[in-house]
Amino acid sequence: MGLVRANLPVEFFCTTGKCTTCRLRVEMTGDSAKPPSETEQYRLGIEAIAKGYRLACQVFVTGDMRVFLP
Ligand code: FES
Repeated sequence: MGLVRANLPVEFFCTTGKCTTCRLRVEMTGDSAKPPSETEQYRLGIEAIAKGYRLACQVFVTGDMRVFLP
């Protein structure tokens, strides 16, 4: 399930990884989601990704994770 479809109060607009409206921080264990895509790396930058920021519309959830809403 994509994180923007998880019934959380996450704002989103494009759902293609371009607008960054859905930016949020997550904490997860190893296999709760795939690593950031090239789109996320480009839009968010290495520092934000290192701090746990992701684009909710690009995160396909496969396990438990903690989400910090903006
Ligand atoms: S909704 Fe635009 S980047 Fe996620």
